Amino acid sequence: MEFAFNALAMLAIFFVLAVGLVIATALLFYIIDKTQTGDAIRRNYPVIGRFRGLFTSLGEFFRQYFFAMDREEMPFNRAQRDWVAHSAQGKGNTVAFGSTRNLNVAGTPIFVPASFPPLDDQFATTEPMEIGPHAALPFKAKSIFNISGMSFGAISRPAVEALSRGAAEAGVWLNTGEGGLSPFHLEGSCDIVYQIGTAKYGVRTEDGALSDEKLREVAAHPQVKMFELKLAQGAKPGKGGILPGEKVNSEIAKIRGIAQGQDSISPNRHREVNDFGELLDFLSHIRDVTGRPVGFKTVVGSSQAWDGLFQLIAERGVESAPDFITIDGGEGGTGAAPMPLMDLVGLPIREALPRMVDLRDRHGLKDRIRIIAAGKLVNPGDVAWAICAGADFVTSARGFMFSLGCIQALKCNRNTCPTGITTHDPHLQAGLVVEDKYKKVANYAKQVIKEVETIAHSVGVAEPRLMRRRHVRIVQADGTSVPMNKFRPSFDAAHHP
Ligand SMILES: Cc1cc2nc3c(=O)[nH]c(=O)nc-3n(C[C@H](O)[C@H](O)[C@H](O)COP(=O)(O)O)c2cc1C
Repeated sequence: MEFAFNALAMLAIFFVLAVGLVIATALLFYIIDKTQTGDAIRRNYPVIGRFRGLFTSLGEFFRQYFFAMDREEMPFNRAQRDWVAHSAQGKGNTVAFGSTRNLNVAGTPIFVPASFPPLDDQFATTEPMEIGPHAALPFKAKSIFNISGMSFGAISRPAVEALSRGAAEAGVWLNTGEGGLSPFHLEGSCDIVYQIGTAKYGVRTEDGALSDEKLREVAAHPQVKMFELKLAQGAKPGKGGILPGEKVNSEIAKIRGIAQGQDSISPNRHREVNDFGELLDFLSHIRDVTGRPVGFKTVVGSSQAWDGLFQLIAERGVESAPDFITIDGGEGGTGAAPMPLMDLVGLPIREALPRMVDLRDRHGLKDRIRIIAAGKLVNPGDVAWAICAGADFVTSARGFMFSLGCIQALKCNRNTCPTGITTHDPHLQAGLVVEDKYKKVANYAKQVIKEVETIAHSVGVAEPRLMRRRHVRIVQADGTSVPMNKFRPSFDAAHHP
């Protein structure tokens, strides 16, 4: 009896103390909120105004689990992400009951099924495609779908290792991004495209100019098959790369040839390249020094602006041409960029790609310059659309990030990526187990290629590169669809009727 009484008294005291503490805290917050001047909501609605901030930041995380519909989120919706995740696991990727996709949305591609598609024994394998016939060492690229540039720095060491090993397993190439070549890129012995950004990381002199000596050192690696000069990238046209100082550790500083712990900011364009003439000179120089095919990556504002390049190639001769052009859509991703550039500058790939393909083909350079397309082309339907539009190759960055386990936490610009992909925090990196993830990278690449082949067979051709614009219809604003070749006729009738 006495024990029960004591327990009750203790409980009552505890309750009074707890209530007192809550009231005292609320009073303290009330005074703080009422007297602060920076936040109008908290000043007008002390204490409860604080919940707005809390819910806003929690909403960012919970929306995707509880509230967002399958096709709603940006930049990638759940249906797109889940497709990659399932493919990466190597499990069957069939869905049940029916499509959740709204087929009335303008811009939706609808592939045109053949009445009599080829039989299994009429399928063909996609042959490797040669890039750079005039380079000392042309590159025979095996896969139509490859890994787009993400620098070591923007992404972590285990992420690069898993991509390298996965790329080797699937037979796809890995673009280094602008952060130079690390031992982790070389780990899997995959084909590598070395990207030269505006800061020339990894191949720079002390004052930031291109070093021929370092270029030769990079080219001495037999895995390095091509060089890509980055003029611009879809997420930040006209702006250089930004790697926050907290991500510049000693290893990254050494590989890039820069100071540790300081923000690493690359110039907004190459100082050596002021016009198309200097661009062709610069590309030829890199090709001569390295013996490898050389191309450039850019985002496009208007295809007319590039006509001068093709005219100049006609004057100088086909040998002077870039061996490839990578077109990055304005919707492209990045580790960090200003929002106005990300949101509003540069044509989306759906418009830029066909325009640039037409420009190249009109100048008779279809077989000379390969076109590589990137920009949210992460699922087989996106890749198949790009091949129909005239791309020779498609690359993806964020598709491969999803295969590594990315949950679209949108934290790439901080050092806090929860999946270990874009952080250099060893505790967070511990979650990314290379031995497991490299298989997922390979599974994803193989599954995309397999399902692009499935689409090709369905539209009636033996392999993906035989797909043409007439094989895909695009939904218009009124909900009806029009074959792509009707509103964007191909200039190269022989190849793309
Ligand atoms: C984390 C991250 C880092 C990137 N780093 C580079 C880079 O170093 N160089 C580059 O040209 N593009 C870079 N990109 C852009 C991608 O290569 C690609 O062009 C763009 O994201 C479009 O492909 P996606 O939509 O499949 O991601 C980066 C993208 C991401 C998400």
